[in-house]
Amino acid sequence: MTISKMFLNINGAVRMVVYEPDDNLANVLRQMGLTGTKVGCDAGQCGACSILLDGKVTRVCTRKMKSIKEFSKIITIEGIGTPTNLHPIQMAWIAYGGVQCGFCSPGFIVSTKGLLDTNSNPTRQEVRRWFQRHRNICRCTGYKPLVDAVMAAAQVMRGEMI
Ligand code: FES
Repeated sequence: MTISKMFLNINGAVRMVVYEPDDNLANVLRQMGLTGTKVGCDAGQCGACSILLDGKVTRVCTRKMKSIKEFSKIITIEGIGTPTNLHPIQMAWIAYGGVQCGFCSPGFIVSTKGLLDTNSNPTRQEVRRWFQRHRNICRCTGYKPLVDAVMAAAQVMRGEMI
């Protein structure tokens, strides 16, 4: 067994990460206590493990640690908001019924952050396409509440709604 270490910028703090090169980043983050990143399919197909890796929505259940560059910037759900300081996307998820079983919510919220960071005024169709492209799957909501939540969060983030 080979143990390696490197520094990563995780949610704004530089942290030393100890790993085996064949570990995937999802499991490493979870072992560090960042259990908001969920593992559903463990095969890159459901989006539950989505994080922002250097600004890009990335499914990390299939990202081996040996493919991660030192000092990469990682944003997990824990870096987006906290229970006492929710991000507008998280508030919209609650307000529009985006959370049912909740398992997919962190991946969807991180994916939405990635979308709104690059397109602050998406159409409903662009939101749906984004989720398809990033393979965010929800088995509870039928997606409409999620799209409603994204549209509302985008409005808040543009300063058009409080
Ligand atoms: Fe990574 Fe499903 S757990 S895509």
